[in-house]
Amino acid sequence: MLVNGNEILQKAHKEFYGVGAFNFVNFEMLQAIFAAANEANSPVIVQASEGAIKYMGIDMVVGMVQVMAKRYGHIPVALHLDHGTTFESCKKAIEAGFTSVMIDASHHPFEENLAMTKEVVDFAHSKGVSVEAELGRLMGVEDNISVDEKDAVLVNPKEAEIFVKETQVDFLAPAIGTSHGAFKFKGEPKLDFERLQEVKKMTNIPLVLHGASAIPDYVRNAFLATGGDLKGSKGVPFEFLQEAIKGGINKVNTDTDLRIAFMAEVRRIANDDPTQFDLRKFFAPAMESMKKVIVERMHILGSANKI
Ligand code: G3H
Ligand code: 13P
Ligand code: ZN
Repeated sequence: MLVNGNEILQKAHKEFYGVGAFNFVNFEMLQAIFAAANEANSPVIVQASEGAIKYMGIDMVVGMVQVMAKRYGHIPVALHLDHGTTFESCKKAIEAGFTSVMIDASHHPFEENLAMTKEVVDFAHSKGVSVEAELGRLMGVEDNISVDEKDAVLVNPKEAEIFVKETQVDFLAPAIGTSHGAFKFKGEPKLDFERLQEVKKMTNIPLVLHGASAIPDYVRNAFLATGGDLKGSKGVPFEFLQEAIKGGINKVNTDTDLRIAFMAEVRRIANDDPTQFDLRKFFAPAMESMKKVIVERMHILGSANKI
């Protein structure tokens, strides 16, 4: 059942669990996400970036999700725009059938971010669509960074309070030290949990963790075993995800883990049988492997059996 993001995240916010928001760029990823939600009995958010929308076509994105949401009618699912960069992009997604959007104006000055977010919120709410915004910049924070430097990069809890009050945004992504992709930390993983708790206290809305892939050892090793290279890769450990959920994170964005798990299988099959060229022989096991990663995550985040 396709629902507004609030229907999924308000419950998670009240009960202190996290819901995975999984990126997809094709039918196979989407199929794996739904199969996992079905197996784990979990609500789920599926999200498409502007790049993913360009790749698939917005009508295809919405059409596929609507079909899957109908096929799995008992699963609450929101279709979310990931990192929308402009009002126009959010409006297009809403008009096409997305039930939730992110306006990411976090690289603009605070006042501009606030104004852009407010414009999107006013339009989205008039259409029954939920909105996510971001404060701070996504990047790893090293041990030797000064307090001032940290303040310049990470979310400011006071600003978060003002931002949420003035924009009436539904969900906020506070930068607390994560980054996108497979190379999140140079040294030991480190997140600013205190800052996170402060933001939760000041805003009292569902919070979002971007760059939340864990790159579990078995996923990394499967990729490496095929001759793949992930030198220096580091994800957010599962214990950190659980700590972040205790601190108020409710939406947990995941893309990299899915890509690596999927491609490890494709690479393995290509290596094992160089004569193989039936797409289904690659994609069916790749979907299965991706599904396992998602099911595991749903249990770790606490969304399993929440339907
Ligand atoms: O936040 C970024 C997501 O992983 C989507 O990435 O822009 O390559 O589709 P993309
Ligand atoms: P990862 O690169 O850690 O999977 O993060 C994805 C993300 O934040 C999408 O918005
Ligand atoms: Zn992100």
